[in-house]
Amino acid sequence: MGKGSGYAKVILFGEHFVVYGLPAIGVALAKKTDVEVSKSQHMRVESSHADASLLNGLEAIKNAMGIKDSFVVKIKSEIPLGSGLGSSAAVSVAYVRALADEYGLQLTGEQISAYAYEAEKVYHGTPSGIDNTLASSGGAIFYQNTDGKSAVKPLNVGKPLNIVIGNTGKKQGSTAEIIAAVRGRREKNPGIYEDLFNAERKVIDGAVKAIEHGDPAALGELMNINHGLLSAMGVSTKENGDIIYAARVFGAYGAKITGAGMGGSCVILAKNEKNAEDIANEIRKMGYLAITSVVQ
Ligand code: PMV
Repeated sequence: MGKGSGYAKVILFGEHFVVYGLPAIGVALAKKTDVEVSKSQHMRVESSHADASLLNGLEAIKNAMGIKDSFVVKIKSEIPLGSGLGSSAAVSVAYVRALADEYGLQLTGEQISAYAYEAEKVYHGTPSGIDNTLASSGGAIFYQNTDGKSAVKPLNVGKPLNIVIGNTGKKQGSTAEIIAAVRGRREKNPGIYEDLFNAERKVIDGAVKAIEHGDPAALGELMNINHGLLSAMGVSTKENGDIIYAARVFGAYGAKITGAGMGGSCVILAKNEKNAEDIANEIRKMGYLAITSVVQ
């Protein structure tokens, strides 16, 4: 039997902008998926979050690793599905680690992430790769993808970051549709979008410094500015706004949408653990989902 795990991730800065080659900052959360593999006659998945396409991704990983055996794959996950937290990448990374454990393979973080990316391609077409990178590395990363080449730089997290994820459960459209709508709006106002992109570049520069120097108040303010830019691009909804403003009223350092937006998840930087719990409870009272975590 082999065992492995992978982390959840959240994009702190740069969603949507990353599609146009700008950098993004992502962090891994202390929520994980554990996978156990035991050899068997046929491939079989035992999971609370079973999903029809899961097996195809697991097969892609096995093929890339050159493994012919079949397994019972037991999945236990703390990461909600479809909430922008990279649940599929966490399963993939956990599975690669479990196979490596089963066969006694010594893989580097980069190799683990690259094998997991094989499954990400099955699930998401041409994903940026930020999810599998964070699911295997943990911590915080600066991520940029230019002309199909990605550059990843680990960031030192100067002070613990208390995170709340709020999810409306009402995402309007798929990520691909939301990206296409943004592209259409950019074509109508290219000059204004260029200014938004330049502002985002400054936000990311400041955010790298705030993370590394351990200045969560400055980081939160930059999250608020980033949310304003995303709102200007038309990807925030009333429900996203309700969560974000409630979090700010409850004393969060900052709050913004995370991922594609349009009713998807919001990320909130709370002042401390107690503040995170208070904000999460307020979001639940509003009828939405909330989880608290820290950067892992
Ligand atoms: O909400 P999600 O997890 O589908 O995130 C999408 C983030 C985008 O920047 C809009 C797209 C991407 O591939 O980075």
